[in-house]
Amino acid sequence: MIRRRSNDVCWCGSKRKFKKCHGEFVAPLEPLRPGRVAPPRSVPDDIERPWYVRDGDTRPDRASVQIIDDPDEFARLQHACRVAAEVRDAVGAAVRPGITTDDLDEIAHHAYIERGAYPSTLHYQHFAKSICTSVNEVVCHGIGDDRALREGDIVNVDITAYIGGMHGDCSATYTVGEVSMPVASLVETTREAMLRGIDAIRTREPLAVIGRAIQPFAYSRGLGVVADYGGHGIGRHFHAAPHIDHVIRPVTHVAVEGMTFTVEPMLTAGTPEHHEWDDGWTVVTNDLLPTAQFEHTVIVRDGRALILTA
Ligand code: MF3
Ligand code: CO
Ligand code: CO
Repeated sequence: MIRRRSNDVCWCGSKRKFKKCHGEFVAPLEPLRPGRVAPPRSVPDDIERPWYVRDGDTRPDRASVQIIDDPDEFARLQHACRVAAEVRDAVGAAVRPGITTDDLDEIAHHAYIERGAYPSTLHYQHFAKSICTSVNEVVCHGIGDDRALREGDIVNVDITAYIGGMHGDCSATYTVGEVSMPVASLVETTREAMLRGIDAIRTREPLAVIGRAIQPFAYSRGLGVVADYGGHGIGRHFHAAPHIDHVIRPVTHVAVEGMTFTVEPMLTAGTPEHHEWDDGWTVVTNDLLPTAQFEHTVIVRDGRALILTA
């Protein structure tokens, strides 16, 4: 499998070089820098917390594969996923030049509470925000701060809602005002890559079909795929087995009915190599070129993967 290179002809049929067409990405003049972070927001006492918040435990919320086959559990999972999707859409509708990533966090925070949900990321392993907001070169786990979004930026908003004993997890990347054609294309290709990965899933087939659908598609468009972060089982726990690869790797897990997990590919304009800021969370691309992500929670049902966070 080869990744389209700068001097190759573009995939779009323009007959121009990729680097002069859909591959024309530029690193920002001013790289993103950590801004001022507001204190964690509070959640009313009557909203049910996940165990790690209740116990003040900072260990990851890992568990074995989540099979949700009981009808009552399935209904509660569906509800948590619907809430996550609603919060995502509320935040997405607020994205515009001038709004800060902390403003987005605040909008999300109130949207969770209005629906009786707890923001799963808030006090998860020392993370102190209600959502992740990842701008431009931030791959994932961005912390909302006082930086205002600018025309031409992109921002991923990652929402996890805990309600009725279940977590629902989803994210989308939004464009801020007008963005360049290659950046818009990065975002759309990433959305399509996620959907292709989900579409490839079949009961009793290995989950390796996901990476096999995503990586060659991204490469054909000259984009990279982050290999070090993947999807995860979800349901009663936030980050359960199995690990979901978005790149081609041998995996032993097979899709079974009721299995619930996320598909959340991160595609990069340039290198998929990354590093972390001193805050211990914010992951940025090494070349500072932009990166996009989309995420859905899915359940394996009737032979295929059903999206719960549409
Ligand atoms: N929602 C993220 C995911 O897709 C998890 C973020 S964990 C946090 O798995 F601690 F960074 F918030
Ligand atoms: Co997420
Ligand atoms: Co996730």
